[in-house]
Amino acid sequence: MRTKPEMMGQLRPAFSELNISEGFEFDTEIVTNEIKEDCKPLLLSNEQLTTLMKDMNDAINKGLSKDTNPSSVVKCYVTYVQDLPNGTERGKFLALDLGGTNFRVLLIELGENNYFHMDSEIFKVPEYIQTGKGTELFDHIAKCLAEFVKKHNVDSTVTLPLGFTFSFPLRQVGLTKGYLNSWTKGFNCSGVVDEDVVRLLKEAIRKRKGLNLQVTAILNDATGTLMSCAHKTRYSKNCFVGLIVGTGCNACYVEKVENAELFDGDSSKPYVIINTEWGAFGDDGKLASITTKYDREIDELSLNAGCQRFEKMISGMYMGEIVRLTIVDLANQKKLFEGRLSDQMKTKGAFGTSFISDIESDKANYKETLKVLNEMGISDPSLVDCANVRYICECVSRRSAHLVSAGLAVLLNKMNEKSVTIGVDGSVYRFHPYFHKLMVEKTKQLANPDIKFDMMLSEDGSGRGAALVAAVAVRDELPKMNGVAAV
Ligand code: GLC
Repeated sequence: MRTKPEMMGQLRPAFSELNISEGFEFDTEIVTNEIKEDCKPLLLSNEQLTTLMKDMNDAINKGLSKDTNPSSVVKCYVTYVQDLPNGTERGKFLALDLGGTNFRVLLIELGENNYFHMDSEIFKVPEYIQTGKGTELFDHIAKCLAEFVKKHNVDSTVTLPLGFTFSFPLRQVGLTKGYLNSWTKGFNCSGVVDEDVVRLLKEAIRKRKGLNLQVTAILNDATGTLMSCAHKTRYSKNCFVGLIVGTGCNACYVEKVENAELFDGDSSKPYVIINTEWGAFGDDGKLASITTKYDREIDELSLNAGCQRFEKMISGMYMGEIVRLTIVDLANQKKLFEGRLSDQMKTKGAFGTSFISDIESDKANYKETLKVLNEMGISDPSLVDCANVRYICECVSRRSAHLVSAGLAVLLNKMNEKSVTIGVDGSVYRFHPYFHKLMVEKTKQLANPDIKFDMMLSEDGSGRGAALVAAVAVRDELPKMNGVAAV
């Protein structure tokens, strides 16, 4: 199908009349000028991105420095992870993965010759638990863990090391101790902020009989992703960055110990992974010049207003909603669907981010776009409506990818390594058809040209990663593990 400019005048060309050809590529020619005009604030120039990079770099340096960290919005937490896997990790490990609507328990075995075996199970964390009492959340986790251990006949006479991926901003003071700074994404449980999350987990586990394990590490999903990528590439590549673009957005990177002023661990080792928590970038107003009215609305109606401003422009929890708010606003101005809107389209959260991926995956005939719009209760959009909706999706996802690229370029320039592999995980990166391409292109434009990098999908970073961090932590002590006291 070639979409001709003269079609712009036609209100509703029938889809069946169109000449469909293979390899349809989206053509913005029929997108109406007023929609293009309204979407302009979503398009970021390299100049704007370069300014953002400077601010982000300052924010990261502020987070790393002892004196300025308390007032920094980008916290740059030290993770106490100083060693990447080297292939000698052996044994069975339990892992917990909490960070979204699903909670996972995993049993992982690492053996000779890169042997890897994993059993895992997904449990729901219902919304009432996500926003209820902290004790109930941890009791739920312990209950799921107990069910899993029973079902998988885990030997209770042996103490298993456990890695806990807890994907929220955690002020760590050791590999097994960390205080929650604030909840992000859809969580807001009472009584957890400023508490040691490992202690809360241990207390919940203690209440259950028959669980014989030792929490040997708590980590973030970005750290897990970096570790999992380092393990997968068999330690031969410089996996120095872990990136998550999923429900939330965050990155970690390998920093020299002397630059991490708050690090009080083993300074005989040269590096430590820093969990930037860059989702909070902009909470001091640094993103004001590129914030749209839709971003403001999303923020105001969120569980954590004023917080995670960078994340709210990027991640899967918010992207679909940005598109929906844009559609509703433009339809109310009669620029879409002749002003007709459905109840679904007017419902907060009804336009999932996966719809953006579906729409942008359209190969021909706006089949997917039509399907999505039908699902959203818009039954007879015109061809131009479809092109306009797709254009809105493209602008929102492009902005997201470009913002992440600016952040990545800051990290690459900062580390200044000749060649870096970036481990990436998260539903947006996984399922959006062009996210990878958009990020690679833009990061190349923004990073120092002498730095080579590649991005690789890190299989199951938050699950494998937890086991790997636990495994590295006990690497040299494994023979002793059988004798250690349980939590
Ligand atoms: C949020 C969390 C962060 C996590 C990210 C991706 O930004 O604060 O810890 O890494 O989501 O899940």
